[in-house]
Amino acid sequence: MTYNTILTSDTEEAAKYIKNGELAAFPTETVYGLGADALNPEAVAKIFEAKGRPSDNPLIVHLPDFAEVKNYAENIPDIAYKLAENFCPGPFTIILKKRSIIPDITSGGLDTAGFRIPANETARRFLKECNTPIAAPSANISGSPSPTTAAHVLADMNGKIPVIIDGGSCTVGVESTVITVEDDTVNILRPGFVSAEDIRNAGFKVTVDKGVTEEVNKYETVLSPGMKYKHYSPAADVTIVDGSLDKFIEYAAEHSTKRSLCMIFDGDSKKFPLPYISYGDSSEEQAQRLFICLREADRLSADKLFVRCPEKTGVGLAVYNRLLRSAAFKAVRL
Ligand code: TXA
Ligand code: MG
Repeated sequence: MTYNTILTSDTEEAAKYIKNGELAAFPTETVYGLGADALNPEAVAKIFEAKGRPSDNPLIVHLPDFAEVKNYAENIPDIAYKLAENFCPGPFTIILKKRSIIPDITSGGLDTAGFRIPANETARRFLKECNTPIAAPSANISGSPSPTTAAHVLADMNGKIPVIIDGGSCTVGVESTVITVEDDTVNILRPGFVSAEDIRNAGFKVTVDKGVTEEVNKYETVLSPGMKYKHYSPAADVTIVDGSLDKFIEYAAEHSTKRSLCMIFDGDSKKFPLPYISYGDSSEEQAQRLFICLREADRLSADKLFVRCPEKTGVGLAVYNRLLRSAAFKAVRL
């Protein structure tokens, strides 16, 4: 099926597509989502088809209010409600045991589902108008950088989906923090804007899953299936270079071809001797611009991309985690 993809700011119009079992892309504070009625298996199947997504990779279920989660999840522990008080609505996804009303295709065959209450006002209006939980992965072709503008979504999804709600640029720029809870401990499966430090400062015990910074064996059972797939990859061969600016320049110069590009901090750019794009100085700026820069590297037809290593704490851990995957874990320390 090919569609004449339209861009709209009318959330009510987009919600009509959802009610008809079709897909609609929508903005959130993190990245754009590709939504379908989470309770309708045929509609959800269209997400996997449009993205080319492996069927065992579960989708996040989006709702306008955490109070609704109990209709779709069971045995919700108290700690989940406490976390929700602190971090919902926001860039935060809690994995819970799902009720059978959530079909297997939505949860990738797992008996759990991730629940997220976005903070973005357009997203919230859209979710209320849909009046059903919305399953939504990031609205990119599987494996390519996540979309943070409607133009990114159009570039990947033109003709594959009927409608995109244009809500401008995403303010956070990286996907939500995905967590599970066990007893009194919060385990971070995917780092995001809500950092381990934020969760700890709110009074919770926190662990960070080893898959966040280490390559997981494809044949191992992984807690978050999304972690085993290649991700966020521009066409360029990405290398993360961890070291001083001088060492970085030396390494990049030595390994560059005519079409290579460096991805540096804004503060590095004065008299930088090689072709570059820059992705900010603070971790928050870097998160917001990361996917824009990875797409820019493609637009400039870069064959190699040398990236200055971000911080590995706070929001920086989310940036580092996405970069590691776009680099297929190729990182050098100088
Ligand atoms: O910010 C976000 O989370 C965006 C916006 C659209 O909300 N969505 C998003 O979805 O990033 P997606 O599908 O690109 O990533 C979802 C991640 C995947 O790594 C998936 O494996 C994991 O969450 N996940 C979802 N449900 C899970 C579950 N039941 N158990 C473990 N991991 C789960
Ligand atoms: Mg994604």
